[in-house]
Amino acid sequence: MIKLQKATQKGLHGELLVPGDKSISHRALMFGAIAEGKTEIKNFLTSADVLHTMGVFKSLGVDIDYNDERVLVNGRGLGHFNQPNQALDMGNSGTSTRLLMGLLSRQPFDLAIFGDASLSKRPLNRVSEPLKQMGAKFELSQDNYLPGVIQANNTLHGITYQMPVASAQVKSAILLAGMQAEGETTVIETIKSRDHTERMLQQFGGHIQIDGNQITVTQQERLLGQQVLVPSDISSAAFFIVAALITPHSEITLKNVGVNPTRIGVLTLLERMGAIIEIHQHDTIGEPIADITVRSQDLQGINITAADIPSAVDELPILALAATQASGDTVISGAEELRVKETDRIATVVTELKKLGANIEETSDGMIIHGGTPLQTKVSATVNSHGDHRIGMMLAVAGLITAGDVTLQDELAMAVSYPEFLSDLKQVIS
Ligand code: S3P
Repeated sequence: MIKLQKATQKGLHGELLVPGDKSISHRALMFGAIAEGKTEIKNFLTSADVLHTMGVFKSLGVDIDYNDERVLVNGRGLGHFNQPNQALDMGNSGTSTRLLMGLLSRQPFDLAIFGDASLSKRPLNRVSEPLKQMGAKFELSQDNYLPGVIQANNTLHGITYQMPVASAQVKSAILLAGMQAEGETTVIETIKSRDHTERMLQQFGGHIQIDGNQITVTQQERLLGQQVLVPSDISSAAFFIVAALITPHSEITLKNVGVNPTRIGVLTLLERMGAIIEIHQHDTIGEPIADITVRSQDLQGINITAADIPSAVDELPILALAATQASGDTVISGAEELRVKETDRIATVVTELKKLGANIEETSDGMIIHGGTPLQTKVSATVNSHGDHRIGMMLAVAGLITAGDVTLQDELAMAVSYPEFLSDLKQVIS
């Protein structure tokens, strides 16, 4: 439990390099492990979620060495893992669980998997169903949840799969299995989700065909170890972008942020709310990177609909906070996916922001935020992350502009994606 800090009259100032991208760090470990030769990963995110993926590969016999500068993965090639002598611990990480269910769906031995209480409530049939159609075998609690077993299986075959929900985790699981399957595997998306798996497969020398929202992979013969530079995580940068926008007299620059077009929904939506955001893109090969500068500004409420959700799915809690400070209403709809994140983020955002005086209503597939309400507590308030890293960080940003004392419970949840968040926040409070 901690008392949240307030911004001063001078606002927030400074330059920050937020940690490496979580999605890309997971994938860099996975591709490094199944490639031949060494993969060197720089700006790797050493947060709890990614360390769980690393732990899994170590249990499977992959030699991984890491220090502050870089991670070195000694790849074993596809299908050359050792049988672990313990169950694989996924911690709080949905990405580890879902992607690894695809990647490990063709192994000659059973793999027991488990996670923490929150992960054990998140649905897995969205991945197990298409993977079973490919020939994979799973035994899951109530057919849908952890703990479970990825059962021994020697053959997979390609399928064509029209995605029923926009989910990069599901898409990636199918592609990672498709890389080991007979025939072609095609995934068709209605709305494009983050494409880090597709990009990384290409970087590691794999074959993939991308035709609009249709992605096809075949069995990969050989992937080769690479140098991977992980951009800073836009999902982490988003907390500082909104903090600077809503805290008077602020100016913050975020360095080397990943601006992959499938991830920048938060920037597009804030621009629709009237924000002017300076984006200076670097010359890079692979994932695009930019420096982003924001100053405090007036915002207006907008409508956020289903088509906007996939590219901003993790940023909706912090966007909801921005909307409390905008003029007019913001209506978020088509966002039912938020209910199956680390917490039910529709419920947790609404419950916690209400404690700080926000005028916000829950709907079945989103929320309605009546903006222009100053945040304040009667005397003091205690808010709770509910064990959800992004709810914890959003509340710490809300605390900056809330009149009255705010205490945050379960702040340690932030370590899932951004262990140094509170000290970085302190750094920009002048
Ligand atoms: C992720 C995909 C998203 C996102 C999660 C990371 C990934 O989940 O919310 O934080 O790395 O593929 P869904 O695929 O369930 O939308």
